[in-house]
Amino acid sequence: MSGPNKSYDPVQVTPLNADHVEAMVAEALAAFAAATSVAELKSARLAHAADRSPIALANREIGALPPQARKDAGARIGRARGAINAALKARETEISAAELEQTLAAERVDVTLPVRRQPEGAVHPITGLMNLMEDVFVAMGWEVAEGPELEAEWLNFDALNLGPDHPARTTADTLFVAPEGAGLLMRTHTSPVQARTMLTREPPIYVVCPGKVYRADEYDATLVPVFHQIEGLCIDKGITMGHLRGTLDHFARAMFGDTRTRMRPNYFPFTEPSAEVDLECFVCHGDSVGNPDRPCRTCRSEGWIEWGGCGVVNPRVLRACGIYPEVYSGLAVGMGVERTLMFRNNAEDMRDMVEGDIRFSRSLVGGAR
Ligand code: DAH
Repeated sequence: MSGPNKSYDPVQVTPLNADHVEAMVAEALAAFAAATSVAELKSARLAHAADRSPIALANREIGALPPQARKDAGARIGRARGAINAALKARETEISAAELEQTLAAERVDVTLPVRRQPEGAVHPITGLMNLMEDVFVAMGWEVAEGPELEAEWLNFDALNLGPDHPARTTADTLFVAPEGAGLLMRTHTSPVQARTMLTREPPIYVVCPGKVYRADEYDATLVPVFHQIEGLCIDKGITMGHLRGTLDHFARAMFGDTRTRMRPNYFPFTEPSAEVDLECFVCHGDSVGNPDRPCRTCRSEGWIEWGGCGVVNPRVLRACGIYPEVYSGLAVGMGVERTLMFRNNAEDMRDMVEGDIRFSRSLVGGAR
């Protein structure tokens, strides 16, 4: 059996003698001081303070000393390790503070510098209003249908019961497209989309048709040659004037809030009976009528605002589009979008809607969305 090695000479255990321990501490401290980054300090720590560092290895030798020498050597190594660890910690704090300082300096942002403003695009008030109008119908389960702006004369007029002699067909209103006699024109209303829809779908049909229309008109505050309409068409069994009334009232309230509609007899070749739709003034509700003290700009003190046309679809139109009037009936409405924007948002000059001045669009943002 082997006991403790009585002949072990502590002086020979070099790693534990005081000079040597001091030298290890001095080397460690010098290495920490020389490190200038977290990475460098990490390698200095591995070399001088980690498990395989000279001081850790020296610590292991303590057990080999005779008992009377262990206490002394243990205290010396303990102090040395304490000094090394304290120096390491202090340097760590210094280096990370310096690195943070550097990062802050490198990433410094002067929040007082002027920013480069990027003007943000937005939908045009007419587009915004058209989307809103479509949404009212889509919410009732209707679908959006679109047609081309370059249209066949037959669909724009004949299919809609506008005979060859109808005044709207003359070149005074209509922009025909060359060559002459080709039967092509820029559509004068969105109603040809009704005809297109009836020709391609089976009833029941519930569609709303927004789009651009063209007329050889003046360009002034109330007329522009290219403008927008929105058309509603419903074809089903047993559709009556009552459904038309209800649809219009709902549409009007969705667009203008608390208001009612009224119908005045009118004539459109594609509907029978036909009516002009008026809107009860949603600003004065008629209070301005005959009341010069309280004039209303919105309805010009008339109490009602002319909004669009409507009617029960003429059986001749149904027949021309392949639908049996004996089985189905329908209702149709058509409104001008520019007109609607004018009185809904108090926009007084239609030219503002085409000239593209961003100040106009901005003034309506929120109102027309
Ligand atoms: N298409 C007509 C126009 O441009 C507007 C219109 C009137 C459309 C009555 C309709 C309607 O659907 O029923 O003046």
